[in-house]
Amino acid sequence: MNINQQWQRPWVVANWKMNPVTTTETIHLITELNEKLLNQTESLPNVVVAPSFIHLTTVKDLLNASIMDICAQNVCAQNAQKGAFTGEISASQLQNLGVSNVIIGHSERRQYFLENNDVLIEKIRHAFDNNLTVIFCIGETKAQYETQQTQAVLESQLQILENFKQSLQNSLDEAVKPKLLIAYEPVWAIGTGLTPTFDEIANVHHFISEMLGTMQIYAPILYGGSVNAENAKDLATIDLVDGVLVGGASLQATSFYQIIQDFCVKNG
Ligand code: PGA
Repeated sequence: MNINQQWQRPWVVANWKMNPVTTTETIHLITELNEKLLNQTESLPNVVVAPSFIHLTTVKDLLNASIMDICAQNVCAQNAQKGAFTGEISASQLQNLGVSNVIIGHSERRQYFLENNDVLIEKIRHAFDNNLTVIFCIGETKAQYETQQTQAVLESQLQILENFKQSLQNSLDEAVKPKLLIAYEPVWAIGTGLTPTFDEIANVHHFISEMLGTMQIYAPILYGGSVNAENAKDLATIDLVDGVLVGGASLQATSFYQIIQDFCVKNG
C-alpha cells in the first residue's frame, strides 16, 4: 500500500492517557486487541494506540506483527535531541524507539500543563523536524460553545499551522513530507458522555476543512470526545469525519474493537 492509500483510509486512534496503572494490565489490553485483529487485514482503518511513556516500549514490542501503529502522547518543546531537560522526551528519542506519531495540543495539556500556542508551535516544529506524524488537537470549552465562539476559537488554534504551511506543502518527496492529522475535540465532550449533535460535528468539520483548504494544507480530520461503541457507527457516517480519537472507550478491548469495526464500514 502506498502512502496515499494509507492516508485515505479512516483513522481510529486510542489515547490511553495516564492509564492503565500496571504494565500487566497494559500487556493484557494490547494482547487482547492484537488477538481480535489478528485475522482481519482487509478494509481496516489505520489503528493507532498512544500508551503512556512508561509503557511505550512494552507496547511497541507487542505490536511487532500487528497492523496497529504506536503513538506518543507528548514531545519536548525544546529543539534538542538530548540534553539537560529533566522529565522530557525528545522527538529524536521517539524516532529512535520506532515511534513515529505524536499527539500535540490535547486540551488536558493545554489546561493542566499550560501549553500555549508558543509552546505548541515549538513542539510541532520539533516533531516535523524529526519526521514524526502530528495529531494536532483543537476544540472549544463549554463556555466558548455556549457563547457561539467555536469557530473563532478553532480558527485561532489552527492559525499556528500557518507557520508550517511551507514545510507541509513544499516537499517533493512524499515519503518525507510532514504528516498532520487534526483532531477536533470539544473540551466539554471529553470524558463527559456528552457530544455535540451530528449536525454540529458535520458543520465544524466542514469549517475546519475549509480553513485547511485556505491554508492549502491536507490533513484528515478526526472527531474526539466521548466516542464509544454505541455512537461510533453513526459518527462514521458523518461527512468529513475521517476517524476518531478515543479516550475512555479505548481502555476496553471489546469497545475499542467495536469502534474499529464501525470505521471498517466507512472504509467500504
Ligand atoms: P474520551 O477522551 O473519549 O474519554 O472523551 C477523548 C480524548 O481526550 O482524546
